[in-house]
Amino acid sequence: MIILKNEREQEAMRAAGAVAATVLHEVANFVAPGVTTRDVDRFAAERIKAHGARSAFLGYKKYPCHLCISVNDEVVHGLANNRRLEFGDIVSLDVGVYFRGFIGDNARTVPVGGCSPLAQKLIDVTERALYEGIAQALAGQRVADISRAIQQFVEGNGFSVVREFVGHGVGRSMHEEPQVPNFVDQKSSPRLRPGMTIAIEPMVNAGSPAVRVMRDGWTVVSQDGLPSAHFEHTVLITEAEPEILTCRERMPALLSA
Ligand code: MF3
Ligand code: CO
Repeated sequence: MIILKNEREQEAMRAAGAVAATVLHEVANFVAPGVTTRDVDRFAAERIKAHGARSAFLGYKKYPCHLCISVNDEVVHGLANNRRLEFGDIVSLDVGVYFRGFIGDNARTVPVGGCSPLAQKLIDVTERALYEGIAQALAGQRVADISRAIQQFVEGNGFSVVREFVGHGVGRSMHEEPQVPNFVDQKSSPRLRPGMTIAIEPMVNAGSPAVRVMRDGWTVVSQDGLPSAHFEHTVLITEAEPEILTCRERMPALLSA
């Protein structure tokens, strides 16, 4: 069952989205050579708390960290540890917060100081793929229209989309229906309707799409060891243009409300 959000619920999701986007921005600015991923997790915890929110990830299926931090060949769900980030690494930061009863979920990949031209292209293609998907998030279209736009853009640029993990409906729970894959399959695909809120999140590998889960039970890595990138926004389907809810420009209005 797909849960549509009414005006009041949409307003709360704008607030949760603004907090999630602000924390992601703050965390991205904190990333630097020499910083450990555990330092990043501690900083994220502090910023989430400062905004009066809670991590949506900590404790979810016993997930042990406040954000997901995935370096280089790590695709998603990376765990914070004593690894020191180095110049040239690329790091995927995924921040989900619980605020005013709803979840805002967003992610981005950033270079640590700088990175290779190939890694930068991977980052740019993944971010643009997210916006290609969002452009299809229109009432009357189907989820598969989003999936197709992302897959075609990524593969047209010589990269591949991960199959095992997908975007999702989001609201009072982090994972609601429908699933939002980054590839087209033969399954029937739900129609998009105003009031639906979905997390669109392309995970893009530089090489093969194959992934495996490491022995920590969480960290997903590319099987070929090549780098991977991840961008995500929480999006509201409206009667007109899609509305990106994970948008930090809303923060000032939120604070004065
Ligand atoms: N954005 C990811 C997702 O939608 C984050 C989940 S991490 C978890 O699945 F630890 F909470 F599972
Ligand atoms: Co998500």
